[in-house]
Parts: sequence; structure tokens; C-alpha cells
Amino acid sequence: MSVLVDFITIEELGSAPEIGAVSVNALARAVRRPYRWLRRTAAHLLFERRYGVRTSEVVDLEEFGLAGDERVYYVAATWNSLRRTLPRREVGGDDVFIDLGSGMGRMVLEAAWRYPFRKVIGVELSGRLNDIARRNITGTRLRLRCPDVELVHSDVLDYEIPEDVSVVFLNNPFRGETFATVIRRLLATVDRNPRRVTVIYYNPAEEEFLLSTGRFRHTGTVKARPDAERDSPFGWIKTYTVTGRAGDQDR
Ligand SMILES: C[S@@+](CC[C@H](N)C(=O)[O-])C[C@H]1O[C@@H](n2cnc3c(N)ncnc32)[C@H](O)[C@@H]1O
Repeated sequence: MSVLVDFITIEELGSAPEIGAVSVNALARAVRRPYRWLRRTAAHLLFERRYGVRTSEVVDLEEFGLAGDERVYYVAATWNSLRRTLPRREVGGDDVFIDLGSGMGRMVLEAAWRYPFRKVIGVELSGRLNDIARRNITGTRLRLRCPDVELVHSDVLDYEIPEDVSVVFLNNPFRGETFATVIRRLLATVDRNPRRVTVIYYNPAEEEFLLSTGRFRHTGTVKARPDAERDSPFGWIKTYTVTGRAGDQDR
């Protein structure tokens, strides 16, 4: 999206004189972040309005009486997170996508809209968020390539991961033992039904556990937010492939 402020970019200000005690460069640096954030937020809202979708809110699970130490609140991944991490040529008609902790369904929508998945699944703890996701799917003006979308209202701990899932999306949905249990169960499905599985982990706060299993190979990293900092997991998206059975060589 282009707005009037783009007319003069911050970079074009170059090395500029001091105005009182504050240099124009310092001023430019101070406004750059909020300006980018505003521009991105406005672009998301315009996109959602155009396509009849509502996912751009932040919701504390406390509001629904669902808060828990290991459960992370609702905030959507940025639109285009899949486009930036999952090449379309890597998805075929046998592939199944799952978003564990799918919230209002933004990534479920992006998956069903952009890719020819056989099936797209979202699993969400909150019935209220899941209802909004359902309305987003049925009411959107986006043309979905994958018509088979299943939205499951469940605690991920009560949900059995299907054995044909091949792309797993996680936007830092849960932490600690919940995360570890889900990853162990995912690996057990690969052991029972050996197959290629890609994991896309947005804000990979539990990467250390993931890698400690010895079963995930890191395949890529992209910035989700321009202000992401190198020593923090937040603001990054990392991709991994699951390797074969425990003890097997990388496939
Ligand atoms: C950071 S949001 C991500 C939403 C969505 N994946 C996206 O990127 O747009 C995390 C979501 O995980 C859900 N969640 C947290 N704990 C969960 C659990 N135990 N089972 C299922 N969902 C859970 C929250 O309700 C919230 O909607």
C-alpha cells in the first residue's frame, strides 16, 4: 500500500542538520517503527474488509475464562506468513495442513486460499474464536482452492493429530509441557506413518525443545516483523522438516 508519506522516504532525508537538540535523523528513526506498523496494520485491515474477514484483534484468553500458564493469548500471524515460507510447488493434492491453536483462522484461510491442499484443519481452544473462524471461512470473498476446511474446537491436548498431516503451522500457541506433548505426538504419527512433514513455527519460543528431540532439521528463517531482534524468537518464522524415525538418518 502506498500512502502520501511514501513521497519522501526516511532514507531520503539522509544526513540532516540538528533542530535544537534533536537531529532529523534521530527523529526519523523514532517515527520509522510506528510508521511501518501503522502502514502494515492499515494494509491488513483494508485487505480483511475487502475480503469479508475478521482476524485482526488481540484477545486475552482470560476474557473467556480459558487462561492457563502454558496457553498463549490470541494474536494472528501476519498475512502472507505462508506465502513467505512455503513455496506453492511444495504443496500437492495429497498434502494436509494443520494450524494448532488456529484462533480466528487467519492461517487456515491463507492455507485454503493460496494452496491446493487436500484438507486444511484448524484446532482452537476457544469456542468463541473458533466460531469467528467458521464465519470467516463461510463468509469470505476469497476464492478458496481447498474447499475441505475443518475447524475443530478443542484443547490441543484432547485432540488426536491425524496421521496424514504434512504441514504443521504453530504461531507460538502454547508453551512448556503442552508444547512438548504435542510435538511428541506429532513425531509418533511420523513413526507410525513415515512421511515428509514441514513445520512452520512463528515466534518459535520453544525451538530449544524442538531441536532437543533430534528429529527436526532447520530449513529456513524469515523475518515476520521488521523490528525482530537477533537474540529473540519473537518476530521470526522458522521452518523445519521432520526427519525419519528416532535413530534413522535424515531422509
Ligand atoms: C498466538 S495465537 C495464534 C492464532 C493463529 N494460529 C494465527 O496465527 O493467526 C495462539 C492461539 O492458540 C490458542 N491456544 C492456546 N492454548 C491452546 C490449547 N491448549 N489448545 C488449542 N489452542 C490453544 C489460543 O486460544 C490462540 O488462539
